[in-house]
Amino acid sequence: MMERDELERRVKHLYVRNRQQGKASWCEHEYDFVCPSTGTYPFQWLWDSCFHAIVLSSFDIERAKSELRSLLANAQPDGLVPHVTFWQRDRYEEMLSTYAIAYRTPYLSDCMQPPVLGEALATVVRRGAGAAFARELMPAARRFYDYLDRVRDPDQDGLVAVLQPDESGLDHTPKYDAYLGVRADCVTIAELTAAWHRVADPYGAVERDPEKMFALDRFIVEDVMVNTIYAEGQRAMAELYTTLDDSAGAAEMLRRAERTERALIDKCFDPERGLFFDLAGQAETPLRTSTMTSLFPLLLPSLPSSMADALARHLEDPREYAAEYPVPTVALSEPLCEPGSMQGSLVFRGPTWIHTNWYIARGLRRHGRGALADRIVQSSIALTAKSGFREYYHPQTAEGYGAQGFSWSALVLDMLAAD
Ligand code: GLC
Repeated sequence: MMERDELERRVKHLYVRNRQQGKASWCEHEYDFVCPSTGTYPFQWLWDSCFHAIVLSSFDIERAKSELRSLLANAQPDGLVPHVTFWQRDRYEEMLSTYAIAYRTPYLSDCMQPPVLGEALATVVRRGAGAAFARELMPAARRFYDYLDRVRDPDQDGLVAVLQPDESGLDHTPKYDAYLGVRADCVTIAELTAAWHRVADPYGAVERDPEKMFALDRFIVEDVMVNTIYAEGQRAMAELYTTLDDSAGAAEMLRRAERTERALIDKCFDPERGLFFDLAGQAETPLRTSTMTSLFPLLLPSLPSSMADALARHLEDPREYAAEYPVPTVALSEPLCEPGSMQGSLVFRGPTWIHTNWYIARGLRRHGRGALADRIVQSSIALTAKSGFREYYHPQTAEGYGAQGFSWSALVLDMLAAD
């Protein structure tokens, strides 16, 4: 196994290469962040950036702070933290024509992404940024969680909804195919982009007013992974308030976290399949494709042990998730699973990703499954050792795919620290 020092050296090298610094004339803010990959993703993405801050916090706390400051510099008055900030847009105009993005301004998207923010902020504060930094960023972070609660959870069941497939961060996951009207025999980037437009274009006609977007009932998904991360983020916010001696803030965030966890457990668990499923539409119809997000509630501290047992069994089954290099994003037994690279551009349809392994391994440890967690950590490290920091990997052969020099795959460093 690669030594920690060597791994850290490679991560530092990557984080120098992918660093973006400057001053944006369109908003007068300075920026300093790590982009996901210089070749395909030179801008700042919300959940990527949170992972980058967590990685940075173990060797460069000042850059970890800059990463989050840049992320929140353009937080919106309604609380939204846009999922992409196009800091240096003018330099990459051609690249933008290849993206399907809904814009709020030419420089900011009008979408959310999984709310990893609370956890990223708590980690950076805990690892050395301290209370002063927490005090600086908490107001914007709190406004984001209030936005999610107020705007994205209109039925107040504790589960937030994504209104477009890319808002979950799992852009092309097959679990949305049927709901989007994409036929199993014609899954192509063109079809999925057309499906995205069928959702996003009518939103334009209502000026992307969230209430009206919900009323259209085109794509409303209470996604299990997003909500598990939401619960985790709310707990982290409670921890931050405790650090700041704000017991009212801590109690409120804990109340919300517990409500989200309860809703996941009560509404999303399918006892027959032993898996958690997303709920779609106003009617909250379960989307019953087994993907790694079905396993995410392993992270919930309040998960009953019978449910943790059920999820672990799926992870141990070689027909489903126990691949040579786990955890495939889609159960190998699902007809829609494609473990190889798909036309180079379709994501989350089978290959193994490092950030989801980072979560699942932690969830397993929380529920006493250290050996299984170790296996996932070791194989994640093996993936990056064999194929470098790629966007995703073949779960049986370790071949790397997608973007090269992909920043969040450096989470292996954090996994090694926790091992
Ligand atoms: C892809 C992924 C998304 C990620 C972005 C940048 O769009 O689907 O989750 O944030 O790339 O890495």
